[in-house]
Amino acid sequence: PEPLKVLGKRKGLHVGNAIGGRYFRDSGYKALMARECDMLVAENEGKWKALEPRPGEYHFEPADEMYAWAKSQGMLVRGHNLIWQDAKWLPKWVNEYDFGAQPVQAAEALLRKHIVTVCDHFGGAIHSYDVVNEAVDPKTGALRTNVFTERLGAVEQIDLAFRVAREHAPKAQLVYNDYMRPDDGSKKHREGVLKLLHDLKSRGTPVQALGLQSHIGSWDDLGGAKQQQVWRKFLDEVTGMGLDLLVTEFDVNDRKLPGDVAVRDAGVAVLAKDYLDVTFSYPQCRDFLMWGMADNVSWLQGWKEAPRTDGLAMRPTPFDEQMRAKPLRD
Ligand code: XIL
Repeated sequence: PEPLKVLGKRKGLHVGNAIGGRYFRDSGYKALMARECDMLVAENEGKWKALEPRPGEYHFEPADEMYAWAKSQGMLVRGHNLIWQDAKWLPKWVNEYDFGAQPVQAAEALLRKHIVTVCDHFGGAIHSYDVVNEAVDPKTGALRTNVFTERLGAVEQIDLAFRVAREHAPKAQLVYNDYMRPDDGSKKHREGVLKLLHDLKSRGTPVQALGLQSHIGSWDDLGGAKQQQVWRKFLDEVTGMGLDLLVTEFDVNDRKLPGDVAVRDAGVAVLAKDYLDVTFSYPQCRDFLMWGMADNVSWLQGWKEAPRTDGLAMRPTPFDEQMRAKPLRD
C-alpha cells in the first residue's frame, strides 16, 4: 500500500506523528514513521516542563535531536507547545514562582522570557507552533486560570503569548490548540473556544489557525449524522473568522467498542471516517497529525481518565503493536 504521506500529498495534506521518549530510540518505529509521515511533533520534549525543568536550566537536546532527525528525513516540524494553560502541566517552579512587589510586570517578563528563549533557540526549524494549548475549561466554557492569567488577565495573557511568538518566530504558523469535539458533552467547550477565537480576532491577535486535537471516540455517541452537523457548524464559524484548521493529535479511544479485535478495528475505522470526512472537507485543513501511530506506543494505554473496562489494550491508531496496517490505515 502507498504510504500515508503519498496519499496525503495527492490531497494536498501533510501527514505527521507525535514521537518521543523511548520510541525515539526504536529504529523499527522510526522507520515506520519515516515511511508514512512528512511531519513531526515531539510528544513531550517541546513542553515547558521538559525544556526548563528548573528555572534557567534548559534541556534543549532531546528536542534538538528529534528536530534534526525530522529535517534529515525531509519532515516539517510542529512545536508543541509554548504555553499550556492548564496549571497542572506547567512546571512546578512556575506555579510556585515568586512574582514579588510588581507581579504584573514580573508575570509578563517570565512569560516573555520563556517564549523568546524557546523561539530564538529553535529558530526556523519550526514550521508551526501551538502557541497556547487548552485554554478553555471544557465543563464551563470559561478560560482556565493559572499564575499568568491571575496577574495579566486571561485573554490578555493569551494575546501577549501570540504577539511575542509572532515577533520571535516570524515565519511560523501560530496555532491555538484544544480538544473540543463534536459530541453533546463538548458543547460548552466548543462555545468557549469560539468565544476565545472571536475575542482574539477582535484584538488583532496574530492567531492563524485552530488546532483540532481530535482525540475522538471516548465520549462520543457512535451515531454520525447529528454530530456531523454540529461539527460543520463549529468549523464553519472557525473558518468564517479567516482561520485555518489542523488535526493535531488524532487517535480513537475504543472504550465503547466491544473487545473482539475485528469488530473493534472496524468500529474505530468508521468513527475516524465519519469525523475526518467532515473535517477534511474544509480546504482550510491541510495537516493531519497522529498522536502515536502504532497501538502499543499510544498514550491512551496509560491514560486513567477514560480506560477500557475489560482490561484489554486499546487499539487507537492506524498500525497494530507489530506495525501491521489496520482498517483505520486504509
Ligand atoms: C500527553 C502525552 O502523550 C503524555 O505522554 C503525557 O504524559 C501527557 O501529555 N493533549 C495534549 C498533549 O495537548 O500534549 C497530551 O500529550 C495529550 C492531550
